[in-house]
Amino acid sequence: MDMTNKVCLVTGANSGIGKETAKTLAGLGAFVVMLCRNEERAEHARQEIIGQTGHTGVEVILADLAHQYDIHRAAEQFREKFEALDVLINNAGIIPAKREETPEGIEKTLAINHLGPFLLTNLLMEQLKNADHARIINVASEVHRLGAPIFDINNLQLQTRYSPMKAYGLSKLCNIMFTHELAKRLSDTTVTANCLHPGVVNTRLASDASWLMKLFYFIGTPFMRSPKKGAQTSLYLAISDEVSGISGQYFKNKQITAPASIAFDDELTEKLWKRSETLTGLN
Ligand SMILES: NC(=O)c1ccc[n+]([C@@H]2O[C@H](COP(=O)([O-])OP(=O)(O)OC[C@H]3O[C@@H](n4cnc5c(N)ncnc54)[C@H](OP(=O)(O)O)[C@@H]3O)[C@@H](O)[C@H]2O)c1
Repeated sequence: MDMTNKVCLVTGANSGIGKETAKTLAGLGAFVVMLCRNEERAEHARQEIIGQTGHTGVEVILADLAHQYDIHRAAEQFREKFEALDVLINNAGIIPAKREETPEGIEKTLAINHLGPFLLTNLLMEQLKNADHARIINVASEVHRLGAPIFDINNLQLQTRYSPMKAYGLSKLCNIMFTHELAKRLSDTTVTANCLHPGVVNTRLASDASWLMKLFYFIGTPFMRSPKKGAQTSLYLAISDEVSGISGQYFKNKQITAPASIAFDDELTEKLWKRSETLTGLN
């Protein structure tokens, strides 16, 4: 697909997979909006992207996805400047070290990894619909399979039975369930929504995780993909003609893959949507 002047918003675009995704899109001539939480890190990455691609159409919108008021402000900032959004890549994510809550009193992993993208996507829906065949891409993970056996609509925030990896797995399962429900709700539009596993990628993802997780990452580093390679499926879903019209799917290595069956359970994905609306004040 010709990406020249397409508007692409990538969350978590200052590091790892997100930075490589943003860099490639900028190199293809797209106007890239980097949604990041830290001004200094974002500006550093923006300069790197401009320096390496020679493309100046790269700008930063600051927002911490843990803060819903920040997401509202960022969406407003975007809407004021852009009428249409061609590609939205919900990429930002964390692996937590311990159970923490956001200022809105929501478990942090669910807030950043699922509710943040849920709210941002909904707040930008008009811009997505204004674009010619917009694409929404949610970066999930194979670790969603850890979330499948513990999915309980009444315990999404793991008030009981918490562990950092359960919280991460559950949030990544929510990414796939959200994609499925979103695709259904957009079926009478030209907007598509897909999600993916990027592979096991050598990034800063575990930098705030427990020492055990950091150790696991350290040992696994030689076997991990580079961020550039890790960005390939996100980019495939963003720019390839092969996926035009495909929606509601989970991809791995650029191939449609079956997620845990619960991820495509219509009744549960609708319940998750409604609970997410309540938790983000959208209903
Ligand atoms: N790496 C892997 O092996 C792997 C495997 C499967 C899925 N994934 C998924 O890939 C995505 C990208 O992760 P990565 O591996 O590239 O890790 P990364 O290098 O740590 O990048 C994560 C990005 O998310 C941003 N972020 C974190 N919390 C945020 C918040 N509250 N508000 C706004 N931005 C926030 C980070 O910003 P800061 O730099 O400011 O912290 C960073 O830019 C994640 O969704 C992750 O779950 C990764």
